[in-house]
Amino acid sequence: MHVLAWPGATALAAGLARALGCEWSELAVHRFPDGESGVRITADVDGRHVVLACSLDQPEGKTLPLLFAADAARELGARSVGLCAPYLAYMRQDARFNPGEAITSRSYARLLSGALDYLVTVDPHLHRWKSLDEIYRMPTRVVAAAPAIAEWVRDNVAAPLLVGPDGESEQWVAAVAGLCGAPWMVLAKTRHGDEDVSVRLAPGALVAGRTPVLLDDIIATGHTLAAAAAALRTAGFAEPVCIGVHALFALRALERLQTAGMARIVTCDTVQHPSNAITLTARLAVAIQELIDEHTQERPGRPGPP
Ligand code: R5P
Repeated sequence: MHVLAWPGATALAAGLARALGCEWSELAVHRFPDGESGVRITADVDGRHVVLACSLDQPEGKTLPLLFAADAARELGARSVGLCAPYLAYMRQDARFNPGEAITSRSYARLLSGALDYLVTVDPHLHRWKSLDEIYRMPTRVVAAAPAIAEWVRDNVAAPLLVGPDGESEQWVAAVAGLCGAPWMVLAKTRHGDEDVSVRLAPGALVAGRTPVLLDDIIATGHTLAAAAAALRTAGFAEPVCIGVHALFALRALERLQTAGMARIVTCDTVQHPSNAITLTARLAVAIQELIDEHTQERPGRPGPP
């Protein structure tokens, strides 16, 4: 096995390699002045199971070089080439919301499925798609962040009340609350634009003596959680603790959340960010090992591709 890291994804790659008991190296990516990219694998991958380690935040600059790297690894004799992408991009565009729009979740799935043997990720934004198998044509494994988040909440928050900012977050909020044995509720969000959301609480919702823990899968601009925090404060709740699975933090999201008055802001380590406090690397490694074992059982003597 060999873990091949996207440039800079060293914490993820080193953690995976440690858990899998293998070596890792960094993929060299060169941007040419005309905007094309070149990739180079410096490790010997002949006969190895190659695991590409790359979270897919900012996916435009990463996707093509990753596909080139997968191709190169096969040409260099890799036995299998899988992708460990703790954050999986493009899952939110899961319908044609306006006439003529691309359903990018499905297009992106086709693109990756054509180049890789398997995919491991954390809590993809499954809303209208109920499972990755509906759009991905390769084996996939989803690592749930809920157990690790619940552990963090139990260790750090006394008397928590789990709060989701919208209906889509119910799946994560209910799971974490169940594991913590804590109450939970979800708010009602209306999105008017990329940076324009409003969030409402049900009238009379107040759970005395509890610390609200706002939980969402993705923090992008932070407007959703900032609006949810404002709604909670207006209703008389204490300052909420804010937890996100995927720390995309676009457009000054961190300042926005800090200004909204969060008691604490923490995220899982699916996207590198100073707020990372909950690690999922060991769980990702278990999923990778299972997929490689399955791949090896299915194709025991599979020679390298031509
Ligand atoms: C969408 O439904 C997701 O679960 C998040 O709520 C959303 O991506 C958050 O976006 P933002 O931080 O830009 O409000």
